[in-house]
Amino acid sequence: MGARLLVIGSANVDLFATVPRHPSPGETLIGRGGQRSAGGKGANQALAAALQGADVTFVGAVGEDPDAQLALAGLREAGVDLGSVVTAPDSPTGLAIITVSEAGENTIVVVPGANAQVSVEQATAAVGQMGAGDLLLMQGEVPRETTEAAVRAAREAGRRVVLNVAPWMALDHDVLTAADPLVLNEHEAELAADELGLTSQGDDPAATAQALCGAGTASVVITLGAEGAVVAAGPDEVTRVPSPRVSAVDSTGAGDAFTGALAARLIEGDDLVAAVRHAVRVGAYAVQHPGAQPSYPQADAELP
Ligand code: RIB
Ligand code: NA
Repeated sequence: MGARLLVIGSANVDLFATVPRHPSPGETLIGRGGQRSAGGKGANQALAAALQGADVTFVGAVGEDPDAQLALAGLREAGVDLGSVVTAPDSPTGLAIITVSEAGENTIVVVPGANAQVSVEQATAAVGQMGAGDLLLMQGEVPRETTEAAVRAAREAGRRVVLNVAPWMALDHDVLTAADPLVLNEHEAELAADELGLTSQGDDPAATAQALCGAGTASVVITLGAEGAVVAAGPDEVTRVPSPRVSAVDSTGAGDAFTGALAARLIEGDDLVAAVRHAVRVGAYAVQHPGAQPSYPQADAELP
């Protein structure tokens, strides 16, 4: 059997409103849209990886409600193993309220619901099932203690961990530095550097990536939106990977498309820079289409 990707993370229903501009506090605006589709950073990354050809297991929690079906339908259709997803009896399926402006920029409010019930026991049991070449991928939308326990269990078993701390949450240093790679946007990278007690590198993501490696993380990828990504495969090995130029419709979930595709390529044996070169193209595809999961390229799609 080939290597598998284990994603332990969130599954949400995303509710979209398109707005002429983002509202100010106290303001009422008229928007359009109202579409609901599958989201959640964990589920998004699991789907993106599966569509890129990876064998994926997703571990998470949904509510006992109709949204659970919508949240998991895309994963099921893509052949993702959902055998360890639990139904939390007293919490609704996670919900994200998303506004997208004419410029394609979004704001997201996440109401975790059942995602807050993904437990240490559930996560470490799944990690215990991992095989030798398998990879663990996690984000910042399930509880801190679950994330820390799963990452530590994976490292103790000698498994590779890809950690995308989005949204940012404080994690113990040994957990942050166990990632290979740690995948962050510029804002999260600043917070991670601060957490690790590093001096700020201003707005120089290459220097920040190097500094994070210098603090003990095996490798770091900082995503730069339309500018692509910077990869530090060690403190002295930094590569800038540009993104193809595309016109953005909706950047929601594009970072997840990137991270899922990156993990899929790492499992196939790509080195980190080669995997990032592919992942920026998958991310660029996703910004050209509305929604999170509905915007991800199928295996045969032509990438920019
Ligand atoms: O990264 C995008 C995702 O963040 C959305 O799908 C939303 O559900 C939130 O988790
Ligand atoms: Na999108």
